[in-house]
Amino acid sequence: MFEKQVYIDRRLKLRKKIKSGIAILMGNTESPMNYPSNTYHFRQDSNFLYFFGLDIPNLIGIIDIEDGKDCLYGDDFDIDDIIWMGPQPKLKELGEKVGVLSTHPLKELNTTISRAIRHGRKIHIIPPYRAENILTLERLLGINQSFIKTYSSLELIKAIVGLRSIKEACEIDEIEKACAIGYKMHTTAMKMAKVGASEREIAGFIEGIAVAHGTMPSFPIILSQNGETLHNHDHSQILQQGRMLLVDCGAESVSHYASDNTRTIPVGGKFSQQQKDIYNIVLAATNKAIEIAKPGIPYLDVHKASAKVIVEGLSALGLMKGNVDDAVANGAHALFFPHGLGHMMGLDVHDMEDLGENNVGYDDEITRSDQFGTAYLRCGRRIQTGFVLTVEPGIYFIPALIEKWKSEKINESFINYAKLADYANFGGIRLEDDILITDKGCRILGQRIPITVDEVESTML
Ligand code: GLY
Ligand code: MN
Repeated sequence: MFEKQVYIDRRLKLRKKIKSGIAILMGNTESPMNYPSNTYHFRQDSNFLYFFGLDIPNLIGIIDIEDGKDCLYGDDFDIDDIIWMGPQPKLKELGEKVGVLSTHPLKELNTTISRAIRHGRKIHIIPPYRAENILTLERLLGINQSFIKTYSSLELIKAIVGLRSIKEACEIDEIEKACAIGYKMHTTAMKMAKVGASEREIAGFIEGIAVAHGTMPSFPIILSQNGETLHNHDHSQILQQGRMLLVDCGAESVSHYASDNTRTIPVGGKFSQQQKDIYNIVLAATNKAIEIAKPGIPYLDVHKASAKVIVEGLSALGLMKGNVDDAVANGAHALFFPHGLGHMMGLDVHDMEDLGENNVGYDDEITRSDQFGTAYLRCGRRIQTGFVLTVEPGIYFIPALIEKWKSEKINESFINYAKLADYANFGGIRLEDDILITDKGCRILGQRIPITVDEVESTML
């Protein structure tokens, strides 16, 4: 948690961006796994954390635009709670920590909202993603749960995206703390990736590194020898000589800022020549993106520049052919690189995705492509100083996709389908670094995790 002034300033800035009405920011509640008191690990809502900072369930924040007041609604713990959970601060003390002086029991929120509705005031909400909060909003606003999301306020969404997209220095410090944990997770996976080791053991061990730092992974760990499945959460295999292990993981800092890195490593510690050839193309695509990312450039262009490096590299290996620019324009690279270059990162690993990907990553100038592959790019708009983004190109040999494109003769003027047989069972390679856009370019956040062939192989020794 930051100094209280950080939260006061953020709420003030938000107020200036909204014309009138009241904004409701729902904190999260506990969520049961299999019976009410056996709950999932609590994760506070990121927008609530951003403006109200309190990492405690069952709180709701209200920002009143006209009267300039911020209020916190919640209930003090009773003696039963204290017996099971120990002494807890009162709501009033919690409010003081984040500069909110007006605190009220939860049951009073109904009256506040009904009065605002009666007076015809605009009630701003953001799209809820948890069933508990959808039901609470249904009750507070008298809107059927199926329609709640359609009542989301674009004005509030845009105001929040405007603020959260530009990271403050204190937020960068937190992201770097998350990167330091991620570094340990990745280098530990590299050391554990011996022939005969189990994916489960490695995934469990590196998750434990985040937990041992008092935090948790920033998303469920992706770790598999079948790296061609982009988000593979199946960890049931035993590592085999000749295969590669794709590890995509990151941690949260104690204040819930994320890191997100991917490395693809050779089981047993040595890449084959074929693996090195593809690996070095992905590395060149990563480095190209980092070289050109700077304020003012559309991230869509950075994505395309990275795709171009991939096409050039695959053409040199005889897997692709024809004019490189035409191949990218026609989306031919997407057979091998069927996803976007990256996404914003902050309090969420896919930052602010609850507010709508297009509201975060696109704008009136740059709208989402509908071309296969590029359509998955989560952020295409012009990037600005203070943005934090991931750079994560990849090359994958996905049997079902190859089969489909080949049988439908898709982009056959750019792809040497006959040559693809040499890469059956290759898997996939993705590399991912986190970058901060600076005044003139960008810098990698955290110490760069070993990434060249030599660095990876020597870390695995
Ligand atoms: N690292 C997982 C993702 O970006 O979707
Ligand atoms: Mn990512």
